[in-house]
Amino acid sequence: MKEIFEKIWETALPYQDQRNDDGHARITLKYAKELVKMEDGNEDIVIPAIMLHDVGYSQIPRERRMLIFDKDAKKEDREAVRDEHQAESVKLGEKILKELHYPSELIPEILEIISQHDTRKGFISREEGLVRDADKLWRFSPEGFKVDTNRSKSVLEERCKRLEKDLKDSNYIYSKSAKKIARQELKERKKLIESAKE
Ligand SMILES: [Fe+2]
Ligand SMILES: [Fe+2]
Repeated sequence: MKEIFEKIWETALPYQDQRNDDGHARITLKYAKELVKMEDGNEDIVIPAIMLHDVGYSQIPRERRMLIFDKDAKKEDREAVRDEHQAESVKLGEKILKELHYPSELIPEILEIISQHDTRKGFISREEGLVRDADKLWRFSPEGFKVDTNRSKSVLEERCKRLEKDLKDSNYIYSKSAKKIARQELKERKKLIESAKE
């Protein structure tokens, strides 16, 4: 990894994985690196954007940021937190990139991707698509899947069905490579159903 990427990673580390989602930053970075190679993406945009996309959660009080998983919380409140984390990620991401003297001509595109990474309808560029693919692949990874289920058989089945349905939606994943990775991962996760007890 380029030295500047290492610096961004180190600087952002204290602000990562703020929603009981240990490994989210690391795993999404791993997928982003794979996708940049497979899809010939611009790493100077994709890598900083994926590293900084969720740092904004750290700027929202814990109780409030955890609302995002609370099924009893009002939809407007959950959506407000989602919007806030995007806006805060832009602010903190910009601060980090400027402090590290990241090439200023690249910063607007990175921040644009971060600004609506969870809410934008449709994709605006290959780089934007790859960042959002890497973020979504988390749900298919062993770590992300574990966070999203408590591993009873019925919960595992339900989760696999949901991921399968999402994959069939043509607007969910941007790149062919991410679809391929998602299918392979899902196949592995389904094996857990057979081994799980009711
Ligand atoms: Fe996010
Ligand atoms: Fe994320």
